[in-house]
Amino acid sequence: MHQEPELTNTRTWPAEGFTRAPYWAYSDADIYAQEQVNIFRGKTWNYLGLEAEVPEPGSFKTTYIGEQSVVLTRAEDGSLHAVVNRCAHRGNMVCREAFGSAKKLSCVYHAWNYNLKGDLTHAAFSKGLRGEGGLPKDFDMAQHGLQKLRVDTICGLVFASFSAEVEPLEDWLGDVAAGIRRVLHKPLKVLGYDTQRIHANWKAYHENPRDSYHANILHTFYGTFGLSRQSQESGMVLDKSGRHVYFWTKAGTEKNDAAYNATAADLRSSNDDLRLEDPSILKWRDEFGDGVSIQILTTYPSFVLHQIANSLATRQLLPKGPGQADLVWTYFGFADDDEETTRMRLLQGNLAGSAGLVSVEDAAVCEMMQRAMGDGQSGESFIEMGGRELDSGGASKLSERAIRNFWNNYKQDMGL
Ligand code: FES
Ligand SMILES: [Fe+2]
Repeated sequence: MHQEPELTNTRTWPAEGFTRAPYWAYSDADIYAQEQVNIFRGKTWNYLGLEAEVPEPGSFKTTYIGEQSVVLTRAEDGSLHAVVNRCAHRGNMVCREAFGSAKKLSCVYHAWNYNLKGDLTHAAFSKGLRGEGGLPKDFDMAQHGLQKLRVDTICGLVFASFSAEVEPLEDWLGDVAAGIRRVLHKPLKVLGYDTQRIHANWKAYHENPRDSYHANILHTFYGTFGLSRQSQESGMVLDKSGRHVYFWTKAGTEKNDAAYNATAADLRSSNDDLRLEDPSILKWRDEFGDGVSIQILTTYPSFVLHQIANSLATRQLLPKGPGQADLVWTYFGFADDDEETTRMRLLQGNLAGSAGLVSVEDAAVCEMMQRAMGDGQSGESFIEMGGRELDSGGASKLSERAIRNFWNNYKQDMGL
């Protein structure tokens, strides 16, 4: 497996370390290029999609890891494969459809054909014609396949890696795998998609679902209607590397807490005047039997799995240059859901996504941050909620612990 050499840079990180993030990290073009190599094509596992999206032998899906187009396939023997979507001849895209079913991947430019595992099986006119043209006699098909990635799965989620060294997916996820197993406990059924372009650096969004501090403050819908309040029973779990995190909240567990009430009076999200004409969106079912109303799980560098009441979705973050990113939402339920359950998931899906009653504020805040950071040549964020250490803040949601841990890993991967 070919391993790209890591890139370096000449930037200097603030002396305080991971409790600060300099604003140049959100806009610098060289840093962005380095992230593609050291992070996205480095020692990480990147989400590609659901097994349910490539259900049959021959199924494929095109997606990205960082800016690199890749194809996820299911071969004739049922095995999953991921290949770089770039012809081994002269670099053309070999797969142009988002989804489909095929017996082979065939490049339109000069008809080099590959099987679904990425091996070259045929190159047009490779023997020439009437003694003219053709590839050199020593041309070895086996040496000219598509670039193959490692593939690993957990509970129907498919991840791939460019790295030969990164540990198997479940080991890499560590304690956070439990949050995935809790939700994805049986076969899945895709309900729909939503892709939004966010005009902000990918890291502004990556920080957001790691940021349990904001949930109760920014989101009117959470605070006002009680799906997530700081006064409720809640917690945060990080894996030991600090790359991955999930936090959870149990609606309806609030105690009458004077300190919370005094602070909440000032929160935009505790606006008592707001009422819903149709409150059915708030009716959720405790389908996992543990009272958890919200669980937001984030893996480094670009994946989110959410359970917001009964709305279930993955979010895949795809950087598109230093100042913008696409966020791909895939909504799903379980294969054995009845019609009423599916309707409930679709209704509650309105809380999430590009125009989600909750999520709309996340993208908006990322875009406002990007504008406020300007050219990024001065200034840095302050990340000391819950303390200054990687483990300070413990399991409290009122903490930026997961964000400190993100920047700690980021700095190491980037040599900063
Ligand atoms: S670039 Fe693909 S066959 Fe030539
Ligand atoms: Fe949010």
